[in-house]
Amino acid sequence: MSARGHAFGIDIGGSGVKGAVVDLATGDLVHKRIKIATPQPSTPNAVAAAVAELVAAAKWHGPVGITLPAVVLGGLARTAANIDKSWIGTDARAMFSAALGGREVTVLNDADAAGLAEDRYGAAKAFAGLVLMLTFGTGIGSALLYHGTLVPNTELGHVEIDGRKTEHRAAASVKEREGLSYEQWAAEVSTVLITLENLFWPNVIVAGGGISRDAEQWIPLLTNRTTVIPAHLKNAAGIVGAAMAIDAGLAP
Ligand code: BGC
Repeated sequence: MSARGHAFGIDIGGSGVKGAVVDLATGDLVHKRIKIATPQPSTPNAVAAAVAELVAAAKWHGPVGITLPAVVLGGLARTAANIDKSWIGTDARAMFSAALGGREVTVLNDADAAGLAEDRYGAAKAFAGLVLMLTFGTGIGSALLYHGTLVPNTELGHVEIDGRKTEHRAAASVKEREGLSYEQWAAEVSTVLITLENLFWPNVIVAGGGISRDAEQWIPLLTNRTTVIPAHLKNAAGIVGAAMAIDAGLAP
């Protein structure tokens, strides 16, 4: 963290590489986020070059936190969702660090970053205990936090219910692809939430992803027990969480 309490976060997704300086006192972006289209194919080398371009454009010279839509263990990408499969087994931390002139870098799962940000600055700030964040997008990402401490790489989008992965039942992309109404989709989301709440007993569930902007259309339809609240930080959550991770020295 710089003397002014700023850190740099980058959120890598299937369509965009987005980054900004984050004010860690407030969780606000210090400037308008910079976005570069994710290179296609989104190979590690191409994405690392985009990251270097973004950091140079921001004129940032310090450490950088970076998200990937992947399980990240010891800096290594172990899976790859919506990015090139050649990420699997890549030492993402070493690669980004090399692309950024050898500076300090941390890499973490995209939903984990969003959860960190919502827990500290956003929707879950007022809730104590166990926070479960689910991001509804192309897949379902998850973050589990207990009093602010992240349990990384939970991958609850891959839990199977009656032989079907939760993300194949209730990701936002499923609603779109199958032309489901909010009522139909919310029934699938409820099935997923009931299963997860019976396993983890969270104090609150935060719903993120683009579809959380229409929360009033579907959160009231849910039939699960735990309070579900929409994410607050919208498309900045990954950037903010990545900045928090590098500031805290997290290295999942
Ligand atoms: C992946 C997760 C990721 C989530 C959201 C899932 O398919 O398995 O690692 O966090 O999508 O991008």
